[in-house]
Amino acid sequence: MGVELKVNLGQRSYPIFIVSSQLPHLGRYLIPLSLASRVFVITDEVVGRLYGEQVTRALRDAGFEVLYQELPDGEEYKSLESAGQLYTRALEGGVERRSAMIALGGGVIGDLAGFVAATYMRGVPLVQVPTTLLAQVDSSVGGKVAVNHPLGKNMIGCFYQPRLVFADVATLKTLPLREIRAGLAEVIKYGVIRDKDFFEFLEENLEKILRLDQDVLIEVVKRSCAIKAGIVEKDETEQELRAILNFGHTIGHALEVLTKYRVYRHGEAVAAGMVAAAAIAEEKGLCGPDLTMRLAGILEHAGLPVRIPFKAEEIIEVLPRDKKAQGGWPRFVLPVALGRVVIDADVGRDVIRSALERCRAERGELS
Ligand code: NAD
Ligand code: GLY
Repeated sequence: MGVELKVNLGQRSYPIFIVSSQLPHLGRYLIPLSLASRVFVITDEVVGRLYGEQVTRALRDAGFEVLYQELPDGEEYKSLESAGQLYTRALEGGVERRSAMIALGGGVIGDLAGFVAATYMRGVPLVQVPTTLLAQVDSSVGGKVAVNHPLGKNMIGCFYQPRLVFADVATLKTLPLREIRAGLAEVIKYGVIRDKDFFEFLEENLEKILRLDQDVLIEVVKRSCAIKAGIVEKDETEQELRAILNFGHTIGHALEVLTKYRVYRHGEAVAAGMVAAAAIAEEKGLCGPDLTMRLAGILEHAGLPVRIPFKAEEIIEVLPRDKKAQGGWPRFVLPVALGRVVIDADVGRDVIRSALERCRAERGELS
C-alpha cells in the first residue's frame, strides 16, 4: 500500500514514498541512491524504543552497516550541543561522504539530523523517515534544517534537501492523539492556502483521520506533501511564495512566546493563529465571516484550540519579535477564499486589535 511523489528541484530532486507498514522494507528504497555501505541512523529515545530495532534490521537486511544513535526526547535537544555529539559519533563511527544520515522521528530529529547531514563533511546524503504527522506532512519535505539557539528557535540552519523521504503512516498508530491533532492543524492549513477541494475532503474525512484509517492517511499525507512540494519547487528559499506556508504562524508564534513554549504544541498555536488571521482578513474586507466560521468549525472538530486567551495588546506587543518580521513588523498571510491567500505587509495595530477583540467576543477568552 503506498504512493510515490517527486519534489522537482533539478539535480536536487527527490522522491517521497508514502506507505503503510513498509518499515521492514526501508533498506530496499535506499539501494538506488548509491550510498556507502555505512549509514547513520539518528533518532530519539521514544521513537528508538518503538522503531529503532525494526529500522536497523531493515537496513542490515538490505546490506547496510548501521551506526545508530538515540538522543533524549525533546525540543531542547535540537541544539548545537547535540549536533556536536552527533559529529563526534559520526567521525568515530566511520561515517564518510557517501554515507547517508537517516533521520528517524518527528520534526525535532528531522531538523537536527538534517542540519548535521548538511554540515558534516560539507554535506552527506540525508534520508528523512518522519514518524509524526507534522513531520510527514511538513518538516521532512522542503529542506529547511536547523537547530535552536538560546535566543531563538531555528536560528542556526540552512536549506538542505533530503535525497529521499519515506513516510510510513502505520507509525502514526503509536503517536499520542494530541500530536495527531497538532499535525492536523498544518494539514488543514494546506487546504486553506492552496486547495479548497482538499479542505472539503478533510471536513468529510475528519473522523477517519482521527481513527487513523490508513488509506485516508495516505491520501492526506500525499495531498499535503504535493501542495508543499509545489510551493517549494517554485520558491525553494522563501523569497516570496513559500511564506504562505506561514499562514496562522504569526499570531500562533505570539501565543507560543507569551506562554514560553510550555502550553501549546506548535500546531495548536497555529490553529488558533489561523482563526485570528481569518478574522484579520475579515476585518480588512478580504473575506467574509463564513470562511472564519468554517475554518474554526473544522479545527474545533479536530480538537484544536481556536480562541486567543490573551488581550489584543499583549499579542501586539510581541509581534515585532516574530522571526519573519521585516522592518520590525510581521507580514501576515491572509485568506481571501478557501484555497487562496495573500501576503499582506500592511496590517496595522488597529486592524489586529479590532479583529482579536471581535474574536474574543465571538469565541470567548479561554482555549
Ligand atoms: P517531535 O519531533 O518533538 O515529536 C513529538 C513527540 O512525538 C516526541 O516526544 C517524539 O518522541 C514522539 N514521537 C515521534 N514519532 C512517534 C511515533 N511514531 N510514535 C510515538 N511517539 C512518537 O515534534 P514534531 O511536532 O514532530 O516536530 C516539531 C519540530 O519540527 C519543531 O522543532 C519545529 O521547529 C520543527 N518543524 C520544522 C519544519 C521544517 O520545515 N523543517 C516545519 C515544521 C516544524
Ligand atoms: N514549514 C514551513 C516551510 O517549510 O517553509
